[in-house]
Amino acid sequence: MRYPFLFLFFPLLILASCTPDESDRIGSNGQVNIYTHRHYEVDRELYREFEQETGIRVNVVKASADELIVRLENEGKKSPADLLVTVDAGRLVMAKEKGLLQATDSEILESNVPAHLRDPEGYWYAQTLRARVIVYSRDRVDADELSSYEALTDDKWRGRILTRSSSNIYNQSLLASIIAHKGSTYAKEWAEGLVANFARSPKGNDSDQIIALASGQGDIAIVNSYYVGKLYQSDEAGRRAAAEAVGVFFPNSADRGSHINVSGAGITRHAPNRASAQKLLEFLSRPEIQSRFAEANAEFPVHQDAKSSPILLSWGEWKQDELPLNRLGELNSEAVSIFDVVGWK
Ligand SMILES: [Fe+2]
Repeated sequence: MRYPFLFLFFPLLILASCTPDESDRIGSNGQVNIYTHRHYEVDRELYREFEQETGIRVNVVKASADELIVRLENEGKKSPADLLVTVDAGRLVMAKEKGLLQATDSEILESNVPAHLRDPEGYWYAQTLRARVIVYSRDRVDADELSSYEALTDDKWRGRILTRSSSNIYNQSLLASIIAHKGSTYAKEWAEGLVANFARSPKGNDSDQIIALASGQGDIAIVNSYYVGKLYQSDEAGRRAAAEAVGVFFPNSADRGSHINVSGAGITRHAPNRASAQKLLEFLSRPEIQSRFAEANAEFPVHQDAKSSPILLSWGEWKQDELPLNRLGELNSEAVSIFDVVGWK
């Protein structure tokens, strides 16, 4: 089957009685078609509100960013997609390089999204921000023992570090940032040193690392910040208890700041509903909408006037690594090769 996830294409407002190709001809800009890697309830709610405000129907296809990029390549000019939404800058950079996106010139987006969180030529814009933090057992680790990503290779952490597999973009982008700041030779030594300190062979997602940490399978974990927030908000007491058992530490505050990544979106090269897509991007960048991402999903807003949430505020002030996010995409394949060489599964 060429497009195994085609069945996931569903309109939020009403059930479409036509295929995406047919619906293109209904009339440009009465709808917007989103290819997204995001899988959060808050997105659904916000799309619905956009539909109510504008009358523009939002159709969503969910799959991994890699699958969506392949699909865009295969579909070419016939693609019904208007927007590609990913959970990391690396894939947006890759989509731009493959010629799958087009530049958007919007004063609203330029003023709402800080310069380091968007493509310099306007091919993509961040929607939310996340930090790759160190979480630690409140029982077994003192926050004073933590400082930087680099310090995690110290012998004192032998058998104590939890993190997910290197096939995940989050760790690839973290390593890409280390290559950018410290060079390839150091980055390889760092990855080797970290593997030597793993508590177990990498498995599971970031939530699983926090749960494993809380149950004593390791003492610190490297995870994206919002996973802690989402566990706090869980309906399950066990998951909330895991969040309460860990502290959140933002590394490298004394030097370059904590590695960040973004969830972001770009208008596709052949978008049939370009104006609607731009409207949706602008809607999602509004401060009051940005606050909703913070509240519902514990993601940091990119708009500086957006209200933060109590959980995010409880983590205190922290410093962002302002490495241009394009670098994460450019250095991705080198990061993947290093992981292979050092045996980070
Ligand atoms: Fe995630």
